[in-house]
Amino acid sequence: MINKIHFGKRISVLRRKAGLSQTELAERLGVTSQAVSKWECGKAVPDIAILLELSHLYKTTINEMLGDADLLFELTGKEAGRSEIAYFVPEQEQHYNIAWANEIQKGNWIKRNWESSRADNSRMDSVGKQIASCEGIILEIGAGPGGGYMPYILKENPDATVIISDISPTVVREWKSFLDKTLDSPNLYYAVFDFCDMPFKDNSIDIVSDGGGIGNCEGEKIKALKEAYRVLKPGGKLITSTGFVNKETLAGLPVEAQKVLLEKRPDVFEDLYEDTVLAGFSKIDSVISGCWYTDDDESTIADLARSLGVNLKFTCYTRYCTKE
Ligand SMILES: C[S@@+](CC[C@H](N)C(=O)[O-])C[C@H]1O[C@@H](n2cnc3c(N)ncnc32)[C@H](O)[C@@H]1O
Repeated sequence: MINKIHFGKRISVLRRKAGLSQTELAERLGVTSQAVSKWECGKAVPDIAILLELSHLYKTTINEMLGDADLLFELTGKEAGRSEIAYFVPEQEQHYNIAWANEIQKGNWIKRNWESSRADNSRMDSVGKQIASCEGIILEIGAGPGGGYMPYILKENPDATVIISDISPTVVREWKSFLDKTLDSPNLYYAVFDFCDMPFKDNSIDIVSDGGGIGNCEGEKIKALKEAYRVLKPGGKLITSTGFVNKETLAGLPVEAQKVLLEKRPDVFEDLYEDTVLAGFSKIDSVISGCWYTDDDESTIADLARSLGVNLKFTCYTRYCTKE
């Protein structure tokens, strides 16, 4: 069945992209501007002759305007069922994630994170704005309960085409249920997959955005970076944020603490720069986006830092990695 509201939102975006007002479009089609307004408000759908004219004018297909095109099938070539969430891994939550997934639901994390993103003007916000200006397909990987950059992208442009993904089915289902109620955008897609083995075809995505997913990867981070490179179109970008203890901070620590930390937690020094180059990205711009300290933190690394009598500084970087 045609979702008239979604159809209206889609054709309204296409009209604005074509640089036309409702009146100008009405004149071109020989209809009244009230008719155009009714279509765009989801109160009516034009007849087939007008649909055909619109598809020519907007350089798209009738199926796409009506929402019958299956974007995820086009991008993957894989039948993940025409359910509203595409599963490329089992639909059940992984056993080690069950307690965490319950916390997300019980604690209403999705809603809380979405609301705090609305009030936030941090670096995430400005990066989200830059990503939102992309006209193409944005793939948010490892969205997590924070959603990565996605809430900031949608804050700037609720009509952006975004595939919201995670390896956790609960995370994706929770985002879908929340965003269906909150935005009801026709341009949001939902997929559950492992970003170390993405289901997408080569050169199919315009932007891969990652707000800390790869840094917290289940699996090999280099594989995730290689997959991001593979699925991006030439000229496309991986925009990724990562936080680690950099070389300057390490050098400033007492020698004994350096030794223990390097032995017990080499992961916290992992600067993914070299791996990003090895993955194929030749143009990488890094911007420092902030820092945090282990004082007052509850994590296992914070406990270890305390036991060594040091307050560790993590520096956060946003990296813009272009596939040339
Ligand atoms: C700790 S969260 C933090 C980042 C997240 N973007 C956020 O804003 O909440 C990391 C997320 O990455 C996901 N993740 C980790 N490894 C993954 C993988 N191999 N494939 C897909 N998602 C993964 C986890 O399920 C989790 O939701």
